[in-house]
Amino acid sequence: MKVLKERILKDGKCFPGGILKVDNFINHQMDPILMKSMAVEFVRRFAGTKINKILTVEASGIAPAIMVGYLLELPVVFAKKRQPSTMENMLVTEVFSFTKNTTYTVCVSKDYLLPGDKVLFIDDFLANGNAGLGMIDLVNQAGAEMVGMGFLIEKAFQSGGNKLRQQGVHVESLAIIESLDDCQIKLR
Ligand code: G4P
Repeated sequence: MKVLKERILKDGKCFPGGILKVDNFINHQMDPILMKSMAVEFVRRFAGTKINKILTVEASGIAPAIMVGYLLELPVVFAKKRQPSTMENMLVTEVFSFTKNTTYTVCVSKDYLLPGDKVLFIDDFLANGNAGLGMIDLVNQAGAEMVGMGFLIEKAFQSGGNKLRQQGVHVESLAIIESLDDCQIKLR
């Protein structure tokens, strides 16, 4: 998506270890106009797909997910990274984060992910794909169906894209980073 790629080149910053910092418009300060444009693009790319629920994971996925939910007039559920003590009836999975080198628990209430739901997952980054695999696990546990996964930015030099596409899921990424070698942003 042209406007996102241009913004990444203008405001994105490379950090050692293949990290792209987009704090200026996605991960800290957020640009709602760009967020809306990206949501419109997701709606276009998943136009042929029957969806009744948007799923994301806190924190950074929430903003793009709610924009998509707003446009499609569908409920948006965010998976929680800590199991609330007051919440019963939970679906739970474990996700390993390579970037942060920790394993965390992700959970969703069975009240909000139902058998037969046709789920579109939206998130900011696709890196190693473990968060995405965890979401597929939660959707399967619920007896729902993951009909699509949309990411703002995919890092093609990490294995997440292959892992998720191998699951047979329709994956769309609005900008694909080929490499961040030598702190140069190379886009596909
Ligand atoms: P995965 O989500 O694809 O499995 O990859 P990984 O375990 O490596 O990512 C862990 C966290 O780091 C995720 O956010 C992911 O979005 C984020 N991340 C991965 N690569 C980059 C990058 O190059 N730049 C930025 N800005 N983030 C990256 P999270 O822990 O869920 O954090 P948040 O949603 O609460 O912000």
